Amino acid sequence: MRHAAQAEARTEQTNKRLGILLSGRGSNFLAIAAAIADGRIPQAEIAVVISNVAEAPGLVAARPMGLATATFVSRGRPRADHDADVIACLRQHQVDLVCLAGYMRLLSPGFIAAFPDRILNIHPSLLPAFPGLDAQTQAFDYGCIVAGCTVHFVDEHLDHGVIVLQRAVPVLDGDDADALAHRILEQEHLAYPEAIARVLSGEYKIEGRRYVTRA
Ligand code: GRF
Repeated sequence: MRHAAQAEARTEQTNKRLGILLSGRGSNFLAIAAAIADGRIPQAEIAVVISNVAEAPGLVAARPMGLATATFVSRGRPRADHDADVIACLRQHQVDLVCLAGYMRLLSPGFIAAFPDRILNIHPSLLPAFPGLDAQTQAFDYGCIVAGCTVHFVDEHLDHGVIVLQRAVPVLDGDDADALAHRILEQEHLAYPEAIARVLSGEYKIEGRRYVTRA
């Protein structure tokens, strides 16, 4: 029994701590939580879920899961002030990796500098195509035959940082933008946990814009 407790304590010590930032539905957050629970993201835990929108559904879902949550309403506040509160909260919870999961807000340069190469985002297009809002509709309206999603490091430009992982999704006859968005979202829920596990493993290097897996 004593050994089991010691082993558990050791595991907790070595867990990497994720900070989730979201503004809305939270399905990617839930996919990350499920992947931690079933071992697809080994030695990780969610340290805190933070929203910039009061009562965002993703935040509400986090509470009964026993996760720490925090809300810092951003509307009407200077970006740097708001970000300073979020940074302080992430530090208080000793976060190793920040995961933007439908966080509808640009990060200030100070935020990015506070977590260098330690902020990930998921975007519902094959970047660099269709950055910004409604990427799935943009891809559909453009007539793309292949769409998809991208997990990337966050830098100071919108949907721009080094790409960790992409998953392609075919645009099918009979699709509309909603059907395509749904099919992309299914792949997001697989891609984000996989990318987080890769980054947490540390088995990579960044060469220019290229994410390279270490042999
Ligand atoms: C996802 O499509 C994600 O790619 C984009 O915002 C959406 C968030 O959805 N950044 P959810 O809140 O994770 O369900």
